[in-house]
This record gives sequence, structure tokens and C-alpha cells, in this order.
Amino acid sequence: MKNVLVTGGAGFIGANFVHYLLLVDARVRIVNLDLLTYAGSLENLTELADESRHLFVEGDITDSALVNRLMSEHQIDTIVHFAAESHVDRSIHGPAPFIQTNIVGTFTLLEAARQAWAKDRGGKRFHHVSTDEVFGSLAEDDPPFSEANPYVPRSPYSASKAGADHLVRAYFHTYQLPVTITNCSNNYGPYQFPEKLVPLMILNALHGRPLPVYGDGRQIRDWLYVEDHCEAIRLVIEKGQPGETYNIGGGNQPYNLDLVLEICAILDEIRPAEKSYASLITHVADRPGHDRRYAMDVSRIRNDLGWFPRYDLESGLRQTIQWYVDHPQWIESISSREGFEAWMEKNYAARGAR
Ligand code: NAD
Ligand code: DAU
Repeated sequence: MKNVLVTGGAGFIGANFVHYLLLVDARVRIVNLDLLTYAGSLENLTELADESRHLFVEGDITDSALVNRLMSEHQIDTIVHFAAESHVDRSIHGPAPFIQTNIVGTFTLLEAARQAWAKDRGGKRFHHVSTDEVFGSLAEDDPPFSEANPYVPRSPYSASKAGADHLVRAYFHTYQLPVTITNCSNNYGPYQFPEKLVPLMILNALHGRPLPVYGDGRQIRDWLYVEDHCEAIRLVIEKGQPGETYNIGGGNQPYNLDLVLEICAILDEIRPAEKSYASLITHVADRPGHDRRYAMDVSRIRNDLGWFPRYDLESGLRQTIQWYVDHPQWIESISSREGFEAWMEKNYAARGAR
């Protein structure tokens, strides 16, 4: 990795990856291509370890002229592809941008890499960041997903990510493009847009608003602290086999309701209010097609590359909650943006009780 094109690097995981990579690798230069949709923010990119090795470009990954120009102007040898429409609930309300960015955008990047690296693929890598949701939904006693599980996506979001994964694999087999894919479970940590479960619960709790738990709250996700995800991605790019897929997960699989209770308990400790924050929990109507359980078998990345998560749920959540409590300006600025209240209204006010 020398000249790295990061897509979606103003979003949650992308921004964490940019911070992380500039800190741990003094050789890399990063070109960060991001459209700054509602989910992207330059406020996620302040206080970088080394500004001089980071160039931000506002633009669309579906813009092939722009992507081709960046590839040649900056002699890009590595693409780390995060850019996506990423929220399942939004994909239920309006799937079109998911198809455009997640499928057409990935295709545009693959074509740009194929052309730019046609003469020499040595030392090149196209790394695609994907999700466990492509594997569908598990029952409580099913074994966790391995890389060999069939793809059974069940939301427009996961279907669009599955389509992108298939394209990436096809470019390896057909054109020998040096690709790797990681399928990761639910991340949490600093800079996560407060439409996702963990930051939404923290934000609502701090404002004394209801904490909306979908359905019975007995769905299960496999939670991973974002820095552990960043470390895994770097390891896969440096040491992973071209053409290979690696599952990543945290091995933390509480019921949603228990996770929310844990967030409340930590907040009760570090920001006590009159009543416990748990009194704000409200069960609301379920998400349509709600996947019941995800869990990842991480044997391949652990055995082949030596990766393991450094944070357990307790330490990761504490660090995350402290970060949100310490960054009221970030929360204020993100949640006062145009469109945020309208989204809350659309997804929650009209939703009704369970
Ligand atoms: P996010 O929604 O926080 O950020 C997405 C970023 O992509 C934003 O900065 C946005 O402006 C940018 N973007 C969107 N459309 C674009 C376009 N057409 N051109 C350029 N930039 C565009 O998402 P995230 O949670 O950081 O997820 C990043 C990636 O990781 C996604 O591919 C997602 O599918 C995957 N993933 C996320 C999780 C998770 O728990 N958040 C878990 C596994 C995999
Ligand atoms: O599994 C990886 C995926 O995790 C990523 O690919 C997605 O980009 C990311 O958004 C995330 O998807 P989820 O749908 O699992 O995340 P979300 O935070 O939206 O929801 C987590 C769980 O919490 C899920 O079971 C739905 C539930 N939930 C969510 C919200 C926003 C609630 O009960 N209430 C809520 O208000």
C-alpha cells in the first residue's frame, strides 16, 4: 500500500480507517473520494495524524471520468472501497440510491481499476468492504456464518451489497483483478451517524427521548468495535490472498434489548440523570423483513492472518459512549443537519407501537 484510494472515507468506518491508517503507516498517501451524502461529514476528518498525506475529493464513485482521473493522476495502487448507502431502514423506504451507489458505483470502480492496472497488476489491490447481511438470517441455534455460506440477502440494502460482492469476485475470475473481500458484522464506535442503533440510543438518551426498540428486541447482532474492523482490513490488504473472502466479527452477540440496557447502565454511571435511562425504552413496530440473527465464524482470518478483536463489548461500548459524551458539538452539528429530523419523523413517528 502506497497510494491508496479510499472511497466513502468521510463516513463512519471510512473515516475511522483514514485516521487509523495515517497513524499506523507512515508510507501511505490517501486520496479520499466521498460524495458527502447525508452520512458523510468533513467533521469526521479533523485532527488527522498527518494532513499532508490526505487529499479529500468531493465526488461520486459512479462518475467514471473522475475515478479514472484520480487513478492515473495519483498512481493509485490500492483501492479500499467503503462508499455505500448503508442503512437498512432507508433501503426499505427508498431502495434506488442503494442500487446506484452500491452496485453501479462498485462496477465503476472495478472498471477503473481494470483499466488502470491492465499492464501491471503487481502490488495492486482492490479491497471491497462488505457485510454479514449478504448471508441472510440465522435461527438462534444455527451455526455462525462461514465464508462458504450461500448468499441469501433479504433487504434492498443487503441485496445491493450481495450484487456488488458478486461483481468483485467476477472481476477476479474473469480479469484476474487482484481483489479481496471482507464481510463484517455490526460496527460501533466514534463518528457513527446517529441513525444506527448504538449512536441513536446514546443520542436519544442524552436528550431524554424514547429509545425505540424494534419488535420484541430479541434480535441478535455480532458487535465489533470499529478500530478492530480497521485493523482487520489492513491485515487482509497486506497479507490476504487475492481472490479470497474473509469474515470479520466481534464474537459479542447480545439480544438488542440487552445491548440497549447495557448502554443505559453505562450512561447511568457516567452521566447520571434523575431516572435510569432504561425507563426511556419503548417497543415500537418491527422492521419489515427484519433479520433475526447474525453471527460470524472468524476462523479463517484468525488462523490464516492472526487477527483477533482487541475490544470486548464492555470496553468498546464504554469507549464509544465516552466519545459521544465528550463530543456534544459533533452530535449537535450532525443531528441539526437538514433532513435528520425529517428522517426521524419518517422512520419513527409514523411507525406506531409494537
Ligand atoms: P456510512 O453510511 O457511515 O458512510 C458511507 C459513506 O459513503 C458516506 O461518507 C457517504 O457520503 C459516502 N457515499 C455514499 N454514496 C457515495 C457515492 N455515490 N460516491 C461517493 N461516496 C459516497 O457507512 P459505514 O457504516 O461507514 O459503512 C461503510 C461500508 O462498510 C459500507 O460499504 C457498508 O456496507 C460496510 N459495512 C458497514 C457495517 C456497519 O456496521 N456500519 C458493517 C459491515 C460492513
Ligand atoms: O451487520 C452489518 C450491518 O450492520 C451493516 O452492513 C449495515 O451497514 C449497518 O447499518 C448494520 O445493519 P443493522 O440493520 O444490523 O444495523 P442497525 O443499527 O440499523 O440496527 C441494529 C439492530 O437494532 C437491528 O436488529 C435493528 C435494531 N434497531 C435499530 C434501530 C435503528 C432497533 O431496534 N431500533 C432502532 O431504532
